[in-house]
Amino acid sequence: MSSVPAQATPGRAATADPPPLHRVDDLEAEARLRLDPVHRDFFAGGAGDERTLRANETAFDGYRILPRVLRGGGERDLRIELFGETLPMPVLVSPTAFHRLAHPQGEVATARAVGAAGTVMVVSMAATAPIEAVAGAAGPAARLWFQLYPQPDLGFTASVIRRAEAAGCRALVVTVDSPVFGRRDRDLRNGFLDLPPGCCCENMRDPQSGRVRDIVMDATLDWARIEWLRETTRLPIVLKGILHPADARLAVTHGVDAVLVSNHGGRQLDGVPASIDALPAVVAAVGGRIPVLLDGGIRRGTDILTALALGAVAVGIGRPVVWALAARGEPGVRQLLDLLRAELTRAMTLAGAVRPADLTREMVLDRVPV
Ligand SMILES: Cc1cc2nc3c(=O)[nH]c(=O)nc-3n(C[C@H](O)[C@H](O)[C@H](O)COP(=O)(O)O)c2cc1C
Repeated sequence: MSSVPAQATPGRAATADPPPLHRVDDLEAEARLRLDPVHRDFFAGGAGDERTLRANETAFDGYRILPRVLRGGGERDLRIELFGETLPMPVLVSPTAFHRLAHPQGEVATARAVGAAGTVMVVSMAATAPIEAVAGAAGPAARLWFQLYPQPDLGFTASVIRRAEAAGCRALVVTVDSPVFGRRDRDLRNGFLDLPPGCCCENMRDPQSGRVRDIVMDATLDWARIEWLRETTRLPIVLKGILHPADARLAVTHGVDAVLVSNHGGRQLDGVPASIDALPAVVAAVGGRIPVLLDGGIRRGTDILTALALGAVAVGIGRPVVWALAARGEPGVRQLLDLLRAELTRAMTLAGAVRPADLTREMVLDRVPV
């Protein structure tokens, strides 16, 4: 078992009136200028030699979109159905820790932007604002999901789930790729062990003592714990960090509601496949019984299109949200979501798809020489 330090410091403020945003990747360069280099490395970095981190983005080069023409259709409809709800687009905000290292308003600013876009924000257990404040900022129509690292203390784990439910969270995203921390050389080299004073993992506050606990990565985690979670909450359960098709099948038999194909943005086990390369086998294993989601390396509307055509119902974005927040605060996160929506709309129009369901497997060629 290992643990996440509980303290963090705020970053610097960003401008309120941002310039136009043309590419998602521009945000990273802009964020670099604002972030403390140690925090920038924490957000950017991955495990080991960062092979998987790099692969998440470059793997998209191995796919080509095979468009359909003369399909008409007029206005595109990006909406999808997930857990009985309609989302405005197939793009979610994946959980990322410590938003207050990126911006003084932290997760509260992120939640306002995501709330305005009407899509889902998966709030990290390692958020630096309490889930109640994030829910308040996101507004009544917000769709928040709560990301959980199951803690060995079941009573405490249950109390965190009750807090997330009471705050209005609509799904529980259980991260299963982290029985121990990935070895992240950048953080080790920088000595990023203790988060500076001023903020902490507010969702880890003990209800009895008021003390903030460290997050424990639990190497004893197994399917029995998923069964326990299934009995502990009525919220839909999403398993985050599934790469192997056999685990996807087990998720279905254990009554899980969705799987999220993810390698934690290359931050856990280095050397695992890019998420997009792992997706097709998971989709085949699940066979349509539950939705399959994906995150890792999504930077363009065409990346989203590729993932949907390969069978994902929606995709998550991690680092781009942090870069947007650090570079431009809440308006930056709004711009990011607007840009991805616009890029996806254009890509679908060019590929002859009116709605996400029109994107089929035959519209993507793989193993393209690059
Ligand atoms: C800085 C950072 C912090 C993260 N924190 C969490 C976390 O607290 N819980 C979690 O399940 N995943 C976490 N992740 C993984 C993301 O949810 C997601 O899987 C990954 O960032 C997707 O890849 P992308 O950054 O290429 O979009 C984190 C990723 C980053 C980059």
